Amino acid sequence: MIDLPRTVEFDGRKVVMIDQRKLPDELTFFECEDIDCVSFAIRSMVVRGAPAIAAAAAFGLALHSTKVEGDREGLIREMMSAADLLRSTRPTAYNMFWAIDRVLRAIEGARDADDLRERAIREAREIAEEDVRANLSIGEHGKRLINEGSRVMTICNAGSLATVWLGTATAPLYLAKEEGLNFEVYVLETRPVLQGARITSFELRRAGIPVKLIVDGAAGYVISEMGVDLIITGADRILSDGTVFNKIGTYTLSVLAKEHGIPFYVAAPTSTIDPRSSSRDVRIEMRDPEEVITINGRRIAPEGTEVLNPAFDRTPPENITGIITERGVIRKPLDEGIRRVLT
Ligand code: MRU
Repeated sequence: MIDLPRTVEFDGRKVVMIDQRKLPDELTFFECEDIDCVSFAIRSMVVRGAPAIAAAAAFGLALHSTKVEGDREGLIREMMSAADLLRSTRPTAYNMFWAIDRVLRAIEGARDADDLRERAIREAREIAEEDVRANLSIGEHGKRLINEGSRVMTICNAGSLATVWLGTATAPLYLAKEEGLNFEVYVLETRPVLQGARITSFELRRAGIPVKLIVDGAAGYVISEMGVDLIITGADRILSDGTVFNKIGTYTLSVLAKEHGIPFYVAAPTSTIDPRSSSRDVRIEMRDPEEVITINGRRIAPEGTEVLNPAFDRTPPENITGIITERGVIRKPLDEGIRRVLT
């Protein structure tokens, strides 16, 4: 279907991740043999995308359980502090917090240290497998939204490289392509980290899907003057009322979609749904000003320029047509649909 390896894997001794900082020039791997390395990989975006960092964190915990000596109680303390370290890496995407809690819950009932290690590894592997299954199912539900000749727009990378494999927003595209449909995708470059330009264009082109890369500021022109049939984005966190936190610029796209009557879909597994938080609880990650002030290491603004670099924004439920999950497409009212898929 797509000829990309899994974004993140655990071979029993190391966590192995595609090094996304190097894309599109090189498809190389980054290997971690301890939890500090995994935490660095998540923070520095060697691995990025909500479901991919969830799997990396879960494998990081599994790896950590194999690295520390001691009895069950000592190991539990170690795992708790590794979990805190991972939680401090990136604050907005919910999946990572969900995955960490899952591994911690799985080890609670362990009989002894060996049983604890086995449980941590089994749970982390299951989290990764579930992600692949969820994406296949998101693809099945979402492909019905794509027609012959569709012009689809997307932002950032909610692709295979943002998940364990296949992607969320891209899964419907890959499955529609498999069925022989022809369509094209407008990809927003997604400043400042350029996940659209570097990563989404890379993986869609690799799958033979025609891409038109545009700068973020061209979205309004393309939508109003050239026509777009469908917008699909990913999500980093979805609240119980249907509010979506996703890559900076997603809110702008949703407003454009509303203004021009274009269906605006969010594709995400149910592990992205945070059933307890309200908007004010969610921390928007503010990233390093260097990301904005430089391009490829070269400064593009006067030295000393003040920068604001929010990595995510908030899209209200009224701007969203539907949420494509592995359990089906949630339509309005989104809050009711979300309650249904979670029960
Ligand atoms: O900062 P990133 O690259 O981790 O942000 C990624 C996104 O915003 C994705 O759209 C989101 O994580 C969904 S990935 C399936």
